[in-house]
Amino acid sequence: MHVAMIGTGYVGLVSGACFADFGHTVTCIDKDADKIARLQAGGVPIFEPGPETLVAQNVKAGRLFFSTEASEAVRGADAVFIAVGTPSRRGDGHADLSYVYAAAEEVAGLVEGFTLVVTKSTVPVGTGDEIEAIFKRVRPDADVAVVSNPEFLREGAAIEDFKRPDRVVVGVTDDRAREVMRELYRPLYLNETPIIFTGRRTSELIKYAANAFLAMKITYINEIADLCEAVGADVQQVARGIGLDNRIGGKFLNAGPGYGGSCFPKDTLALVRTARDAGAPMELIETTVKVNDARKKAMAEKVGRAVEAELAGLTVGVLGLTFIPNTDDMRDAPSLDIVPALQARGAKVQAFDPEGTHEARQLLRDVVFKSDPYDAAEGADILVIITEWDQFRALDLDRIKLLMNRPVMVDLRNIYKPDDMRARGFTYTSVGRA
Ligand SMILES: NC(=O)c1ccc[n+]([C@@H]2O[C@H](COP(=O)([O-])OP(=O)(O)OC[C@H]3O[C@@H](n4cnc5c(N)ncnc54)[C@H](O)[C@@H]3O)[C@@H](O)[C@H]2O)c1
Repeated sequence: MHVAMIGTGYVGLVSGACFADFGHTVTCIDKDADKIARLQAGGVPIFEPGPETLVAQNVKAGRLFFSTEASEAVRGADAVFIAVGTPSRRGDGHADLSYVYAAAEEVAGLVEGFTLVVTKSTVPVGTGDEIEAIFKRVRPDADVAVVSNPEFLREGAAIEDFKRPDRVVVGVTDDRAREVMRELYRPLYLNETPIIFTGRRTSELIKYAANAFLAMKITYINEIADLCEAVGADVQQVARGIGLDNRIGGKFLNAGPGYGGSCFPKDTLALVRTARDAGAPMELIETTVKVNDARKKAMAEKVGRAVEAELAGLTVGVLGLTFIPNTDDMRDAPSLDIVPALQARGAKVQAFDPEGTHEARQLLRDVVFKSDPYDAAEGADILVIITEWDQFRALDLDRIKLLMNRPVMVDLRNIYKPDDMRARGFTYTSVGRA
């Protein structure tokens, strides 16, 4: 199969490289000329475990190409995937579909022969219908099938998730299109990955329903964590105690500072908007959004409580800025709420992140960026772990203690054990544990 991938961000690059690895011929297209130049020169513009090798192997095999120009690849494509961004629209939380529609207009002017137009971007219910209308207007003669194929990969484990997904969801009604989609995902088909064919609107909704459920699950355990602190229980044991129940499941039950990232915040807002517009408001998700927003901001108070003092004039060392480990993505990271809230209370912030510093510099003001965790701890009155990068799990704690002004740690990811930390002489606060 010949594939054109419009948009070469986290999703477009990983999906394109994985489709090439499945044996298809893929051209990844992006308007960002720097990104494409970097890829053409053998670099990878995102930090993610694995794409370097995957990209290099498939480029070498002559299956993976990069271009700023869509025309040639789209004309020869069996399937054109749209994997551009769908950020929150300012003001009302609806998904901003301008990139999706611009890509569809461009593709409509180019397609030749029977072509699938597949949305990989997360798009609200009805977007496929709009894309179909664009094609009818721009190219009434075009032989296209508009398909929904939402992506469920997680940053930090994107290739693994793409190649070994729990399921693939395809919203399609056209029989010819169904066969092309089956062929594209054939290696997964052979692995017996469930491939769910649904109507297009259902497929579009599945993506939002999944993300909103996960956001709600995180928010639920976070509220249980607060209750644990109030009544002297341990949230990790509660999570295990409920997670072993198959009806609940153990994943996404790690209490922390609140969810963030490139998907959950914008997708929950967009679902709330869609539901309201449809006259079927989702109060559970509206509450989830509200509780999570408040939680991220409240984390600065938790830090203040750890020293039982005003934060004004104190130095806070921060470990981890990205929204999860193993990515350089800072979109809607909890650190973007927590760090300014610490600064608003008068704290000076010095921070280290293994991969996110470049992005973080554009988004955070007055932070001193450090080159390793020990630098971030040096002279600090409090050390706050915001993101659970593996390298923070095995810190030389005796060295950290000597470097700090006073040995106070606020571990928002429950990496360390309270008893151990106290035995080592730290004043230690975590989430939902006595
Ligand atoms: N990041 C994730 O973990 C993830 C997971 C599942 C689904 N998604 C969804 O996938 C979509 C893409 O997300 P992302 O994180 O990859 O975004 P991204 O911002 O990393 O990448 C989008 C890319 O599209 C390019 N682009 C925009 N308009 C274009 C056009 N007309 N032609 C060519 N290129 C164009 C941009 O330059 C950018 O490089 C979103 O809808 C998102 O919700 C993301």
